[in-house]
Amino acid sequence: MSHHITEVRNLQYIYPDGREALKDVSFRIHHGESVGIVGANGAGKTTLLMLLVGAIFPCKGEVIVGEVPVVKKTLPLIRQKMGMLFQNSDDQLFMSTVYDDVAFGPRNYKLDEREVERSVVKAMETVGIEHLRDRAPYKLSGGEKRAAAIATVLSMAPDILVMDEPSTALDPKSRRRLINLLKGFSHTKIIATHDLDLVFELCERTIIMKDGRVLSDGPTADILTDLPLMEQSGLEAPLGLQNCPVCSNISRNDLKSI
Ligand SMILES: Nc1ncnc2c1ncn2[C@@H]1O[C@H](COP(=O)(O)OP(=O)(O)OP(=O)(O)O)[C@@H](O)[C@H]1O
Ligand SMILES: [Mg+2]
Repeated sequence: MSHHITEVRNLQYIYPDGREALKDVSFRIHHGESVGIVGANGAGKTTLLMLLVGAIFPCKGEVIVGEVPVVKKTLPLIRQKMGMLFQNSDDQLFMSTVYDDVAFGPRNYKLDEREVERSVVKAMETVGIEHLRDRAPYKLSGGEKRAAAIATVLSMAPDILVMDEPSTALDPKSRRRLINLLKGFSHTKIIATHDLDLVFELCERTIIMKDGRVLSDGPTADILTDLPLMEQSGLEAPLGLQNCPVCSNISRNDLKSI
């Protein structure tokens, strides 16, 4: 299954209060692709990711992962293959210690306790939170919670990583660690974020969402340097590409001519 595509066909989603958050969204993501989902607040990014992993189900259209449609019946299989980092870490952490939260997924798949411990320790080391193992998640700082939530996803060793704002609340060193970690992850990555520098560094493809639709879908280097398109989407070029004497020598004029 991991070598198959993630396909979204004509997705529509209307929240119970009547808000139409997604309107006819379609795309295919191939195995190993790294795709940034960007767009202004309320564009539909989180709704889209929740539909991808079956946290909610579409009003119209379908999501297919490999040959498997994402429906209630297939959720155990989908959850094993797709790891989802939720936008709000509190949605991901509910046990009494960080260790138990990170162990929750592997235990659910009935691994023996030694294997569980191995995957938990590895995931906690990867995000640098071994020292938090016995802490209560609800007492952690925002960035510590974020790192713990990322560890809960990594401990499942998913084939497809779906992340909603992964770098939010992380300090610069933790953000860099996350970017390096994601660079080394060779499977599919689908990352919704406002951190356009992260997208520029990690994702070869970018999908821009606007008002519940796909406004643009193409190579990141083309999309994030198209200033009129970025403006139309309520976005700006990544800081690393702006005319900043500290982080870049590229000027806006250079960008226009790219
Ligand atoms: N539970 C909900 N009930 C009703 N409307 C909702 C709900 N959650 C989101 N929406 C609406 O759906 C639309 C898409 O929201 P979504 O959270 O998917 O946007 P987003 O692109 O992830 O935004 P952000 O960048 O702020 O995270 C918005 O208009 C939002 O107000
Ligand atoms: Mg969101």
